[in-house]
Amino acid sequence: MERDRRGIKERLDKIREEFFAQIKEISSPVQMQEIKARYIGRKGELTQLLKGLKDLSPDERPHIGRLVNDLKKEIQSFIQQVSLSFSFLQGKKEDITLPGVFSSLGHLHPLTQVINQIEDIFKRLNFRVVEGQEIEDEYHNFEALNIPLDHPSRDAFDTFYLSSPEHLLLRSQTSTVQIRVMEKEKPPLRIISAGRVFRPDATDASHSCVFHQVEGFMVDKEVSLANLKAILAEFISQMFGEEVKMRFRAHYFPFTEPSAEVDISCLLCKGRGCSVCASKGWLEILGAGMIHPRVFEKVGYDPEKVSGFAFGMGVERIAMLKFNIQDIRLFFENDIRFLQQF
Ligand code: PHE
Repeated sequence: MERDRRGIKERLDKIREEFFAQIKEISSPVQMQEIKARYIGRKGELTQLLKGLKDLSPDERPHIGRLVNDLKKEIQSFIQQVSLSFSFLQGKKEDITLPGVFSSLGHLHPLTQVINQIEDIFKRLNFRVVEGQEIEDEYHNFEALNIPLDHPSRDAFDTFYLSSPEHLLLRSQTSTVQIRVMEKEKPPLRIISAGRVFRPDATDASHSCVFHQVEGFMVDKEVSLANLKAILAEFISQMFGEEVKMRFRAHYFPFTEPSAEVDISCLLCKGRGCSVCASKGWLEILGAGMIHPRVFEKVGYDPEKVSGFAFGMGVERIAMLKFNIQDIRLFFENDIRFLQQF
């Protein structure tokens, strides 16, 4: 009896060893079926062993029976795992020659691209980029820029005032940067500054209560209107192309004298007149002028000794002209179909 028992245990160990050695080598479901039949099938080795249990004595049967059954379960669950991985591999008929799935990269917003382009042009002309502040006080947004108390832009309907602290507001123009820089620094200055401005306008295809401006100015001993024209002509030809013409139209701004609005020849009809330029042949792109002596006085410069020019342009307007975009709201709606085109 003792010999029988030891004999069975040795056989079980051997079967176990053989099974794992063989299952490691298989490479197809068919081979797996063969192994399954060999060990746990109706005529399999373990099944035979179980059948032979009846020859053992009644007190040995349960013990040996459990050993055989344990091994059978082990083998069964292993076979199940292996067949699962076979069916997984078969179910996934992947074409490994297909290109991978790309996660799309974002890119800069079209307005940021235009701001960068404008700044790059002026940097090459020796202008320095500075950052302004969006929250301002009345002094920097109006008074120092020679905008009188009764000017309509100072009205609560034309400027966003903060409820507290009082007298603070969201700047309505980037010209505030002229004051901030001149208060801190002495000429010569060549500055460019881009950023958001805020006006409580009703939103439509050409108005938005938030938009962007780029301010530029130069102050030195003998800066003239000719310098302003030369710098703007260079900017326009780099931004829109050499063939684009420029014209100055007399205008009024409280902080420049003389002042002008600057037009470029229509990009679409090249000056012949079309619907984009309202048959005028010209498109207004910026305001400019020679910095007013009173502005210099406010920042402690002597208007007899220094002179300078300033200009300001709307970034959305430039971008709309450059890319032929009809509606300003597209810039702020974050519709990916629009943004992806730039
Ligand atoms: N700040 C003016 C505006 O918002 C533009 C401007 C800037 C005009 C500098 C002249 C000089 O309309």
